[in-house]
Amino acid sequence: GLRKKEVNVLCLGLDNSGKTTIINQLKPSNHSNHLGPLSGEWKHASQTQTQEIVPTIGFNIERFKSSSLSFTVFDMSGQSRYRNLWEHCYKESHAIIFVIDSGDKLRMVVAKEELDTLLNHEDIRNRKMPVLFFANKMDLRDAMSSVRVSQLLSLENIKEKPWHICASDAIKGEGLQEGLDWLHGKWV
Ligand code: GTP
Ligand code: MG
Repeated sequence: GLRKKEVNVLCLGLDNSGKTTIINQLKPSNHSNHLGPLSGEWKHASQTQTQEIVPTIGFNIERFKSSSLSFTVFDMSGQSRYRNLWEHCYKESHAIIFVIDSGDKLRMVVAKEELDTLLNHEDIRNRKMPVLFFANKMDLRDAMSSVRVSQLLSLENIKEKPWHICASDAIKGEGLQEGLDWLHGKWV
């Protein structure tokens, strides 16, 4: 039939990395001529939601459509007390977006621990699901490059899954389109 393919995307990463800010950039604005980020041009934050983003409690669910796909995004809280919620969503997920704060050198080791735990989980380990990394907050003066972030997270060791890393500035909306295009290309 002509029904859009349903894709469940799990958005993970430490608290304060920028997950909700990224997801918020995907939300269609009130403009009636807006085609959505996956089928039209990317909109800047100043043109869309300007509301204050608060730390996520538990998780939020957002839905977006492109011309051929219907995405459901699970925006999980990255706070340590909520990270145990992540694994309950693994089975239903078709792709993962993992967000890193490129300026947070101190917690890069924590981000790596959480990523390794995720990738070794029995519901994730042997699956070929795509993993999109955003090395976010590239605008910060002491931000690490996406190459440096991928080295620190040992991404070259991920053999069984297609993965991609993009530097991003979620506030300006930069780098997000490239990542979403890569993800979109896994289904169309
Ligand atoms: P939790 O919901 O607690 O897991 O956090 P989160 O990953 O959803 O982070 P959130 O989107 O709430 O962003 C945390 C803070 O980082 C907010 O103050 C954002 O405005 C800020 N932020 C997000 N992306 C960027 C970025 O690219 N650059 C800069 N400078 N700040 C950013
Ligand atoms: Mg959040």
